[in-house]
Amino acid sequence: MRVILLGPPGAGKGTQAGRIAQAFDIPHISTGDILRANVREGTPLGQQAKGFMDAGELVPDDVILGMVGDRLAEPDAKDGFLFDGFPRTVPQAEALEQLLIEREQPLDAVLRMLVDTKEIVQRLTGRRTCSNCGAVKHMVYDPPAVDGVCDRCGGQLVQRPDDAEDVVLNRLEVYRRSTEPLEEFYWGRGLLRDVEAVGTVDDVAARMDAILRDFA
Ligand code: AP5
Repeated sequence: MRVILLGPPGAGKGTQAGRIAQAFDIPHISTGDILRANVREGTPLGQQAKGFMDAGELVPDDVILGMVGDRLAEPDAKDGFLFDGFPRTVPQAEALEQLLIEREQPLDAVLRMLVDTKEIVQRLTGRRTCSNCGAVKHMVYDPPAVDGVCDRCGGQLVQRPDDAEDVVLNRLEVYRRSTEPLEEFYWGRGLLRDVEAVGTVDDVAARMDAILRDFA
């Protein structure tokens, strides 16, 4: 199965992607997670990306495309993948399309996750991320057992720099400007499927599962 999760920051892409990847046994490829790992490790790629990420701006397409090309070349992506946070611009989508033609691996679907802006701001400003293992919690919707401590590994839960409210608002504007045009791009190719991404995490997962089962 070859699928893209498309949706604004805070739509729940990462939350759902982990579950889908496990259920369908495909790799979850999050360009945001790969970039954050590079920032943590202080690699040249991370140093190049950090300023864009902290400001809520997009990392340049050539950097992202090199990174995705390397990731798709890994053996676990041979038979399928789930993209979370990629592509984010029309040039990225065009480059992915070309790459998948060369690999004879057409996409099955692009799931568009629908959530309103007020809910997004509440989700992102309340999100806390483990500085050690990357687990994601929410102060209200999914609080940890012990305040500030990761349930999974005992690491410290922190707020991502780009989850401050002013940066969230800029990310939403960047999404409207640069990523929303992908809806028309994929609609034109007959790949776009809509999912109401509000309600409990389990409710949203069940809606996505019902769509994806057709492609498994
Ligand atoms: P990235 O990490 O991809 O961020 P994003 O797309 O903005 O998405 P988020 O991780 O913020 O949200 P999400 O939809 O995954 O929501 P989540 O599941 O965590 O990118 C970060 C940055 O990297 C970008 O700004 C850019 O600089 C750069 N970048 C990455 N990819 C790039 C690319 N392709 N090109 C250029 N630059 C790129 O959920 C959010 C919160 O809500 C959590 O707390 C969760 O617990 C909660 N939640 C989830 N579902 C529900 C629910 N149903 N009900 C209640 N709460 C819920």
